[in-house]
Amino acid sequence: MRGFESIKKFFQGEQPPPPTLEELEQQLFAEERSKGSNPSKKKERRSFPEMEHSAEWRVAFEREKERMKDPTYLPTRQAVMDAFVHPEMHPLEHHDYVFKEAKIFEFFTQEYIDELADRIVADNLREGKPDGRPLKILEIGAGNGKLSTFLREAFAKKLPDGVEIIATDSGEWGLADDGSVQEMDHQTAMSTHQPDVVISSWMPNNVDLTADIRACPSVGSYVLIGQSDICGDSAATWGEEVQAQEGFARMEDTDSLSDLQLCRTDWRADESDSVYRHSETAIYTREQPTT
Ligand SMILES: C[S@@+](CC[C@H](N)C(=O)[O-])C[C@H]1O[C@@H](n2cnc3c(N)ncnc32)[C@H](O)[C@@H]1O
Repeated sequence: MRGFESIKKFFQGEQPPPPTLEELEQQLFAEERSKGSNPSKKKERRSFPEMEHSAEWRVAFEREKERMKDPTYLPTRQAVMDAFVHPEMHPLEHHDYVFKEAKIFEFFTQEYIDELADRIVADNLREGKPDGRPLKILEIGAGNGKLSTFLREAFAKKLPDGVEIIATDSGEWGLADDGSVQEMDHQTAMSTHQPDVVISSWMPNNVDLTADIRACPSVGSYVLIGQSDICGDSAATWGEEVQAQEGFARMEDTDSLSDLQLCRTDWRADESDSVYRHSETAIYTREQPTT
């Protein structure tokens, strides 16, 4: 049985993935052979059972897999549910696609991006543009940069010239596959760009980058997206007490965003004993000094 720590690492992609169906079968056969038995006789019993799934699910899965290859494709929430967060999906097929092939942490959807963009505007642009210039949003640890791409498109429609978005990543995990992500660690990114808002989606496990975000004087608010017991350090990254000590407070009304989310660990999150969990969005804003 895997321990919780190793499962956390596995969800973060830091642990070798579990074997594919074929590899698993070969391993089982090798074990049988080493015990001197004839595995072929037990093939039916020992090989991973085929999941019963409908033709509809298979069609939806293959179609969405193909569409997701386009880095500008933003699916609807329903399309993700029908293809990737579906009870008929085989556990290893889920893993092979979500974790290994596409390396998806959060499934960004039209509905979520729309709501997040509205929320950023409401929280930061109520008083208009800061000093008349565009609001500067910096994404750190942006991976393949899709979140910034989708938000850029949303703001271009909602508030042309009102928002500038910069995607950055240290490059440590090798996820960036086009030129849209600037390669720099979070510290260099913040000192270079002096952002108004910082976004971090799926911060690496056991690494808290939020203390550095709060210490950056230009930052008025920051947005965390992910699963709070896996991303960053649960207490230091998501805990309300730490933020309060450092002059930031967590906004309370983010449920409408979190409710829209779908992530790599949403699949089977509803099962009571599951290690799979929903992800959430948390927004922290700098408290204004009282005069
Ligand atoms: C779990 S992945 C999340 C990627 C992306 N945000 C997403 O949601 O798909 C974490 C990313 O953080 C990057 N990273 C790790 N440490 C970093 C640091 N100190 N500064 C900037 N990026 C970092 C890694 O290279 C990796 O791309």
